[in-house]
Amino acid sequence: MTHKLAVLAGDGIGPEIVDEGLKVLACLQADFGFDAEIEAAAIGGAGYDQAGDPLPEQTLALCRQADAILFGAIGGPQYDDLERDLRPEKGLLRLRSSLTLFSNLRPAMLYPQLADASSLKNELVAGLDIMIVRELTGGIYFGQPRGIRELDNGEREGFNTLVYAEHEVERIARSAFDIAMLRNRKLCSVDKANVLEASELWREVVIRVAAEYPEVELSHMYVDNASMQLVRAPKQFDVIVTSNLFGDILSDTAAMLTGSIGMLPSASLDADGKGMYEPIHGSAPDIVGKGLANPLATILSLAMMLRYSLGQAELAGMIDTAVGNVLNQGFRTADIAGGEHSVSTAEMGDAVVAALRELA
Ligand code: IPM
Ligand code: MG
Repeated sequence: MTHKLAVLAGDGIGPEIVDEGLKVLACLQADFGFDAEIEAAAIGGAGYDQAGDPLPEQTLALCRQADAILFGAIGGPQYDDLERDLRPEKGLLRLRSSLTLFSNLRPAMLYPQLADASSLKNELVAGLDIMIVRELTGGIYFGQPRGIRELDNGEREGFNTLVYAEHEVERIARSAFDIAMLRNRKLCSVDKANVLEASELWREVVIRVAAEYPEVELSHMYVDNASMQLVRAPKQFDVIVTSNLFGDILSDTAAMLTGSIGMLPSASLDADGKGMYEPIHGSAPDIVGKGLANPLATILSLAMMLRYSLGQAELAGMIDTAVGNVLNQGFRTADIAGGEHSVSTAEMGDAVVAALRELA
């Protein structure tokens, strides 16, 4: 079976890290009988430069046809002054929304080899393995009305709308419960139900869905407390489910617990398991073209793609193993080297390919 893959490298270090992902894909094709048709398209600032649109029509069409999408990063200072609808971020948000990629999986796990990279004490993070399930196509990111308007007195006012329909909460809750069933069966729903009506309904719906999953232990936490607990005692969490904005914030905190944002992949899935896979770090304009970027988050995103969208769990496991092996061999890009000797983006990609070949 031929898998149709769309590859959107984007901006900043996107193209550099995606190149390393493509090396790994080529190895899967050459040595593991993996059958894929790979097509690239522009997005973000690159889309704007090429077609005057951060999500060119052709790119969206390609993504609609694909079984899965590999995404690099978007954004850069040269695009910051564009009008909002033309900014790179808008391309990403429209893509998420157009394909209804509502379930965003953001794992935060600590590689034992990198334990010293965390800013928290070792005993707090050793063995850390959290999955944040972030709602990705609703909430205040997309709610209407929104804008900046002028009041009668001439003062301006910015406004956004936080809105969640029951079906939106229901489907993200199911997604999170399903994942909890595959893990340690503990789910914490994070909201602000003490203040927000949208959260009140969120909590009610999550509790309703929980009846379908009697084996999962469900808890609820206010977002302010959750942000504190994440840095106080992060290992109390297994799976966290939360809204778009809260998930945006908490997933950055959780990522930093592992000390290595350059290591963390993510998946954004629709109801049928079709997905977009991207490293959670951004476009890092400050290190573009220097060979400093860590390609492992992209390579691990590829592993997630094989597992969640393409039904190739065995190949996914091999990529995970290969990454573990190169870390054991001492390969480190600058972000995880702690001042010790480091290798370049391309050298890291080559090392993973070499480690993968050994598993063939
Ligand atoms: C993320 C990013 C995006 C978001 C930006 C780039 C629009 O921060 O994926 O977490 O806020 O969702
Ligand atoms: Mg973010």
